[in-house]
Amino acid sequence: MIKKLTSGLCYALCAILLVSSCTPGKEYPIVIETDMKRSDTHSFAHPEEAVVTHLSWHARVNFELKKIDATATLTIKSTADAKQLVLDTKDLTIKSITNGNNEALNFSIGETQPFLGAPLTINITPKTKNVLVSYETSENAEALQWLEPSQTTDKSYPFLFTQSQAILARSWVPIQDSPGIRFTYDAQVEVPKELLALMSASNPTEKNESGIYTFEMKQAIPAYLLALAVGDVQFSALGKRSGVYAEPSVLAQATAEFEDLEKMISAAEKLYGPYRWDRYDLIVLPSSFPFGGMENPRLTFATPTILAGDKSLTSLVAHELAHSWSGNLVTNANWNDFWLNEGFTVYFEYRIMEALYGREYSEMLALLSLQDLKTEIEEMKAADQFKDTSLKFDLTNRNPDDGMTSIPYDKGYFFLRMLEEKVGREKFDGFLKDYFTSNSFKTMTTEQFTKILQTQLFDAYDMDVQPALYEAWIYTPGLPADCPNPVSDKFENVDKALTTWLANQSKEELQASYHSDDWSTHEWLRFIRNLPDTLSTDQMQALDQAFGFTATGNSEIFNVWGILIIANQYEAGYGRLESFLIHTGRRKFLMPLYKEFVKTPEGIEMAKAIYQKARPNYHFVASSSIDALLGL
Ligand code: BES
Ligand code: ZN
Repeated sequence: MIKKLTSGLCYALCAILLVSSCTPGKEYPIVIETDMKRSDTHSFAHPEEAVVTHLSWHARVNFELKKIDATATLTIKSTADAKQLVLDTKDLTIKSITNGNNEALNFSIGETQPFLGAPLTINITPKTKNVLVSYETSENAEALQWLEPSQTTDKSYPFLFTQSQAILARSWVPIQDSPGIRFTYDAQVEVPKELLALMSASNPTEKNESGIYTFEMKQAIPAYLLALAVGDVQFSALGKRSGVYAEPSVLAQATAEFEDLEKMISAAEKLYGPYRWDRYDLIVLPSSFPFGGMENPRLTFATPTILAGDKSLTSLVAHELAHSWSGNLVTNANWNDFWLNEGFTVYFEYRIMEALYGREYSEMLALLSLQDLKTEIEEMKAADQFKDTSLKFDLTNRNPDDGMTSIPYDKGYFFLRMLEEKVGREKFDGFLKDYFTSNSFKTMTTEQFTKILQTQLFDAYDMDVQPALYEAWIYTPGLPADCPNPVSDKFENVDKALTTWLANQSKEELQASYHSDDWSTHEWLRFIRNLPDTLSTDQMQALDQAFGFTATGNSEIFNVWGILIIANQYEAGYGRLESFLIHTGRRKFLMPLYKEFVKTPEGIEMAKAIYQKARPNYHFVASSSIDALLGL
């Protein structure tokens, strides 16, 4: 506890030093680097004393009791005078702890702290090599979502999946849950015989008689990449090293939607070096999955809301694939450096999409990003959160989830794109490829990165780049003046079409002069997002009749349209809206809709009524955000 406080204090001090020490000179900003590297204020672990290097996990998944019974055998490396191994836990019931010789080890569980859970301190000697923790998870383990058959797509079998990022792994495995600590793992998992178990590891492709599955992850990963899914899923191959798992009724559509996956992997390798995880598979989860995608190594978890039928939302797959380099190979050292994971990944994602579908396509993605970013900065400013709009900021004593705004993603992207434009693509690509190769399976802080950038890129090419550049992009809130401007003829066409529409509401003219029949999802998103906030019922009706937005099967399009339904009290859209909210668990879609509702008293009533029905379908990460929004 005291140690936590001092390290937190040290961190705050570092942050102050960082912003105040902006004297010119190429050394900036490198401050007490070694200190910062170890100071993950979101983990209780003391890796400098004893660190986990391997996890051997034996588990039984019990759907009746909604709990996992398990033994985690941890291989540790410790100092010559090590006395304690400290693990992170959250709501775990510890049954016994022994060493490799079956001798009981004394342990204590510390005070539970907000967000963090409780430290599990185990007494060890320098000779202790293995620690066996036998435990079970609690009914409200935050990483786990247990679904009744009725909550799955096929409605026949129960389903379980985990979501460990950022700090929820500790709710299902007692582990050192810090992105700066990597370990290999193997597992043996017993599940009901009708179900298949999959992990972020080597995976089976079919069910077996015993219901016992074994897994191996030979590459060292941080705890937030531990993942498990159990359900009635089948496998379909997409290429020689890729495939997709989904519930039977979803499998054919998923296979068609992701047919370009192998091309994406090749494009990614061509850009930034070999794929290091052997296989790349996807699992399409039931609709309550709270994210679009999660880059669990070897097995990306994905929402079914990207199955649009026309491959138009697969940039999300490019994103999760890109994490196989940015994030999974080179990992943010702690959650204050989250932009290193996500900003690099968005940059890489757009480069993959450009390689497959052309610059015009990736520029549309970039423009949608820029709009998101500008809106988010304005909203955060209005909500007194402007300081959180710098790329690096301090999340000590806060939920790391608070850092999950479009800042690390989109501002991170534009920072890297600005660098690319400054030095030229060829040099930048060479730099990035080398960066991923030299830092594979390592962790990275913002300060290490800027140092590498300075020496390997700017100094190497004799470029006079001033520290003010980092200061503006990384440590200053808001959007820097030299933010790149993506260009899209297609979006210019959409903008003109929008003006025309608002003047005369003629579908025919949009078709004849602006080719709206051929518009892609992204053009429609641009169109709907740029409609005025306030529209009359006649206008909403005219739009709906002309373009069928309420009935669209495209989740991204319905999501932006849904905001207009709420804002303009467009009753014809209420039925679909309610059903969308009940059947979608993806927080990125839910939050903007609920936020629109809470702007008016009638909206709040409606939101509460819908939420009452929808909440049982949401994962903890979604329901906790909405509980807070609705003041529940
Ligand atoms: N790693 C993130 C999801 C995440 C971040 C989960 C932080 C928990 C804490 C994932 O790669 C992601 O960014 N998903 C996005 C996809 C998108 C940007 C294409 C999502 O879920 O919307
Ligand atoms: Zn991501």
